[in-house]
Amino acid sequence: MVHSYVKGEIREGEMSAFLMTIFLKGMNREEVYHLTLAMARSGEMLDLSKVEGIKVDKHSTGGVGDKVTLIFAPLVASGGLVVSKLSGRALGHTGGTVDKLESIPGFRVSLSKEEYLSQLKRVGIAVSSQTEELAPADKLIYSLRDRISCVESIPLIVSSIMSKKIAGGADVIVIDVKSGKGAFLRAERAKELAEELLAIGEMAGKRVAVEITPMDQPLGYAVGRILEVKEAINFLRGEGPKDLEEVCVSLAGLAFWKGGICNSKEEGEEVGRKLLRSGKALEKFAQWMEAQGANPRIVEDFSLLPTAECKPLTAQREGILIDIDCKRLGEISHLLDVHPAGGIVLRKKLGDRVEKGEELALLYGEQPYLDEALESLKSVFSL
Ligand code: URA
Repeated sequence: MVHSYVKGEIREGEMSAFLMTIFLKGMNREEVYHLTLAMARSGEMLDLSKVEGIKVDKHSTGGVGDKVTLIFAPLVASGGLVVSKLSGRALGHTGGTVDKLESIPGFRVSLSKEEYLSQLKRVGIAVSSQTEELAPADKLIYSLRDRISCVESIPLIVSSIMSKKIAGGADVIVIDVKSGKGAFLRAERAKELAEELLAIGEMAGKRVAVEITPMDQPLGYAVGRILEVKEAINFLRGEGPKDLEEVCVSLAGLAFWKGGICNSKEEGEEVGRKLLRSGKALEKFAQWMEAQGANPRIVEDFSLLPTAECKPLTAQREGILIDIDCKRLGEISHLLDVHPAGGIVLRKKLGDRVEKGEELALLYGEQPYLDEALESLKSVFSL
């Protein structure tokens, strides 16, 4: 059925009925597994067998300010694993890794298969935009799910994510399932999603690790393409916020464990911390930038990156910051995306004390969007 749909032999109405039935009735594991494999095999399956070493892929279900891949990839590659990631663009209110990388001057996100494989062998890390040939069934089915309001279905989400990961060809798959108000799935369903992703990946012969991480507020302080790149570089230099460190070290720990570098997640986390402290992860980031066409000196000189006009949002009264409407903040940041350095940098996070007149956030971008965004952002913070 999946293959016939991709070939155009099955009409949209029939596929809609099929998806709607899955949405309403669910599927057992065996069924999800076969659907996933059919979707993975609907296009090209990347063969990484000529690349030496253990290949690791990473996926996030999408969060606001989620710049983890920019850190995870060089961190894990600096520890001796090979990071291979075919990445998507922004989905809804969350940003896509490819969009962030593309905002770096010179960085090439569309590598040919030969370039991709050669870079994996030379540098141990390559991130490229997903091609049309990778699991084409997912693209078609996702768009139909969106139109018939069948996105929030665990079997459909699992088959969508895992079909792309299986077609990507890595040995180890690390998945970050976001849970909380800024995530696309309700919190109580995150655990169910995590269990199913793990089960289906293992049935397909992959070494899989899934972590549920909080998304009640943006991860770190920066939201927006270049702003997140700068925060990721600062992190690799050893100046990172705690919440970002927890997620990055934890996912790297899982990768080192599942990739056979050590015997437990905890040992893997220690390996990750050491690589960060030694500067090896930052060095690998610079090599990665150079390999994909960017100037490696951006790691020490931010003047090589674009900058935008800045306006502060200040508090109208004093109080404790008790809520950030994360989804709305992501949408407002998108408004500022017309400029590559557009976005929002938080000055306060949940639980912080705020004095009247103090900065809650800095907005970056260009007019007239900047003033529009400043007005909209006022209702995002609750004191
Ligand atoms: N991300 C995906 O790739 N697919 C889904 O269905 C949901 C999130």
